[in-house]
Amino acid sequence: AALKTYQFDVQVKNVSRLCHSKPIVTVNGMFPGPTVYAREGDTLLVNVTNHAQYNMSIHWHGLKQYRNGWADGPAYITQCPIKTGHSYTYNITITGQRGTLWWHAHIFWLRATVYGAIVILPKQGTGFPFPQPYKEANIVLGEWWNNDVEEVVKQGNKLGLPPNMSDAHTINGKPGPLFPCSEKHTYALEVEQGKTYLLRIINAALNDELFFAIAGHNLTVVEIDAVYTKPFTSQAILIAPGQTTNVLVQANQVPGRYFMAARPFMDAPVSIDNKTATGILQYKGIPNTVQPVLPQLPALNNTAFALSFNAKLRSLNTAQFQASVPLKVDRHLFYTIGLGINQCTTCLNGTQLTASLNNITFVMPQIGLLQAHYFNTKGVFTTDFPDRPPTPFNYTGAPLTANLGTKLGTRLSKLAFNSTVELVLQDTNLLTVESHPFHLHGYNFFVVGTGVGNFDPKKDPAKYNLVDPPERNTIGVPTGGWVALRFRADNPGVWFMHCHLELHTSWGLKTAFAVENGKDSDHSVLPPPTDLPPC
Ligand code: C2O
Repeated sequence: AALKTYQFDVQVKNVSRLCHSKPIVTVNGMFPGPTVYAREGDTLLVNVTNHAQYNMSIHWHGLKQYRNGWADGPAYITQCPIKTGHSYTYNITITGQRGTLWWHAHIFWLRATVYGAIVILPKQGTGFPFPQPYKEANIVLGEWWNNDVEEVVKQGNKLGLPPNMSDAHTINGKPGPLFPCSEKHTYALEVEQGKTYLLRIINAALNDELFFAIAGHNLTVVEIDAVYTKPFTSQAILIAPGQTTNVLVQANQVPGRYFMAARPFMDAPVSIDNKTATGILQYKGIPNTVQPVLPQLPALNNTAFALSFNAKLRSLNTAQFQASVPLKVDRHLFYTIGLGINQCTTCLNGTQLTASLNNITFVMPQIGLLQAHYFNTKGVFTTDFPDRPPTPFNYTGAPLTANLGTKLGTRLSKLAFNSTVELVLQDTNLLTVESHPFHLHGYNFFVVGTGVGNFDPKKDPAKYNLVDPPERNTIGVPTGGWVALRFRADNPGVWFMHCHLELHTSWGLKTAFAVENGKDSDHSVLPPPTDLPPC
């Protein structure tokens, strides 16, 4: 195990895309930001210095941060923001994890431009459970706005309407030649005929689940969210914001130029967004004058593809990699996901869009919840988040326009240390059904079941996969359906859980778990670091 140090200078830089130039917030002037490399067992010290006129905090998405939420990063959940001119060192020990994860700003919408890959190699002397690839590459998918992103959000909130969609999708920060002025902003991956490549694909987009494919080449999925899977081959993959997917690609076609492409999966009837980002898979020695062909991507609303793709994901489930799926459940939680409309006096038409879990719209606190939990500060949050919705209803029946009396609150659920938890997330037809990618900080969970319609507590558990369920940190709750997740609450602290569509997070689609300490100091939250940013 090694100690690795990184310096992250948060600074504003002018970047041009789509014929426009604008200042964006970056790390070290890079867009996307630098890749963090580590090996399983290493400790990372990432010193973040904020030179920008924005508050900042960085989240290490998918790293478990055992007993050490202080290094997790979500602003006002585990720390206060790093203010202009200040620094904070994230002290991260990587235990029991290897694979692809990513880091991103976790405050307002700044992750629009502040993000990068985390590559954790297996321990020295340990290989992958698949043939060693010849080379590897990061494919970080994102979005680009011509306007200042924070302004786009403020505008939307003021008018009580959803903020504008982005102007482009991007591959490694580049939209590709289907967009104006973007010939020179095209990502290209050079490959050699006959070799195998490992692609580490990350969805860093703010609001879009994406399909990704490469013309003429199959993708073999081998890992999701830094957990190995049983390999399977597919023409395209589906990846939700927050998720990571490693695929193997064989350069086994006629040497040429092939487009790789990413385009949204949009199943909510309200939004149409078909912007396609492209990059190029370029065989060595082929001139740039050869015109590439586009891959076939599933249609925008191809829910059948989404369901069948997700159903193919299975944990490797070998003795070496299997973490144990909880077979017995101590605590059953059932959370409904609802969109809705609230009154708003400052909004143009007197209403604004909102979102809730079990009818609770989460209100961000003024100081970090982890500090309040650790120091037992009263009046910051309550631990009375309901285990189930106040009034059961036909969740996925006819559309409901009422918001069923959504209540505002900073309400958490308290979990006993080491208890086993089953959480069913149920989409509802409040306003509209929609797929929601839910992310839990501090943990991986096992996706033991999923289905369309209403979860049936009598029949559905009998169909659970308790043998090789996928293990991950972000899961797309299917449109008008449900997922059942299980995890062991063995990581004490306060852990955020939210929809990874930034729009929905802003509307309040979030909550947190307060996981109690174990019986001794070795199973308790570590003391806060001395440089933890004050509020
Ligand atoms: Cu990737 Cu709470 O976020």
